[in-house]
Amino acid sequence: MNDSLMRVYFDYNATTPLAVEVLDAVVAATRDRFGNASSVHYFGQQAKAVLDDARSAVATLVNADPSEVVFTSGGTESDNFAIRGAADALEPAGRRHLVACAIEHEAVLNTLKALGRRGWRTSLVPVDQTGIVSPDRVRDLLADDTALVSVMHANNEIGTIQPIAEIARLAHERGALVHTDAVQSVGKVPVDVRALGVDLLSLSGHKFNGPKGAGVLWVRRGTRVQPILTGGKHERNRRAGTENVPAIAGLGVAARLAIDKIATEGARVATLRDRLEAGILGSVPGTAVNGTPSMRVPNTSNISFDRVEAESLLIALDLEGIAVSTGSACSSGTLEPSHVLRAMGFPAHRTQNSLRFSLGLFSTEEEVDRVVEVLPRLVEKLRGLTKKTVPA
Ligand SMILES: Cc1ncc(COP(=O)(O)O)c(C=O)c1O
Repeated sequence: MNDSLMRVYFDYNATTPLAVEVLDAVVAATRDRFGNASSVHYFGQQAKAVLDDARSAVATLVNADPSEVVFTSGGTESDNFAIRGAADALEPAGRRHLVACAIEHEAVLNTLKALGRRGWRTSLVPVDQTGIVSPDRVRDLLADDTALVSVMHANNEIGTIQPIAEIARLAHERGALVHTDAVQSVGKVPVDVRALGVDLLSLSGHKFNGPKGAGVLWVRRGTRVQPILTGGKHERNRRAGTENVPAIAGLGVAARLAIDKIATEGARVATLRDRLEAGILGSVPGTAVNGTPSMRVPNTSNISFDRVEAESLLIALDLEGIAVSTGSACSSGTLEPSHVLRAMGFPAHRTQNSLRFSLGLFSTEEEVDRVVEVLPRLVEKLRGLTKKTVPA
């Protein structure tokens, strides 16, 4: 590894570095609050106080009541809990149908597939090249036995924000529950569970400068979901297992930082993202932005580069010290074309020539300018190689 390189991390949608205050809270809780939060004695109560504090911070961040916040191990568990928990709760009422959208994260898509193998009917709402889910298309798929509609709030690859409130209204008219995976929107844009009108919402600490391994499923009071982990009576009988107090302490601090900074940080990061996008589109011919630019989280830009293999460009950028992604972290390294871009109806070459740039708390103008400076040369070089190996 060449460590004289200026390293640029533009992969915040995969994960984020800890904020300094978060790191301090994690260290302090690890050292001083080691008790089991279920224990009656002083040490247990000290740990429980950390959970209570983090619970109210997360509740404030999404305009919820603290009693509705269930701590989990992260976004994947929260999505599983929402879908499997709602399915188990509603099956006795004869509801055996699940709806999600085609550009969901694998945590949702593969959970639907698993339930499909157990006999559940599942439907995926298609999307077009805007990357926005149409509420009318959701309505077309709803049935009298739909148990749950799960549509993500912001997409992890292209950043588009979905019309969740409208979708929730339509689903509720048919008696279905509504879940939204807000893992990529919480901490980046204001998220208000009441305004969204959903019943269940997933979030994950490591996507907004909190620690990995701590997330939340927000469960609207009165919503029936069965626990997916059985064991002790933790989290008001909703999620068994000793709580990860240090990581949850960090999640709480990350939530407080987001509450304080969301407007200013959102605007700052959007300015950087727009500078990056304008710089790339202006200096590299044959580039285009994927997804509707006006309805996106402020930190994400997904750009296609004509006649360039995205994996090759990713590696070339990495050699220059610049970290980006070809899409969701889980599928990179496999050369699988992005399921999101494919679902949007892009031709095969475009699903394999697109890169995701995602910025965040520590991103700077200098880093943006470095990427814009480096890219034209790398793209030109790769296009030259393609010309030599592929006959016209
Ligand atoms: C939209 C979305 N949902 C769920 C997840 C999974 O979250 P976690 O990594 O906390 O399990 C991710 C992570 O990439 C995501 O982007």
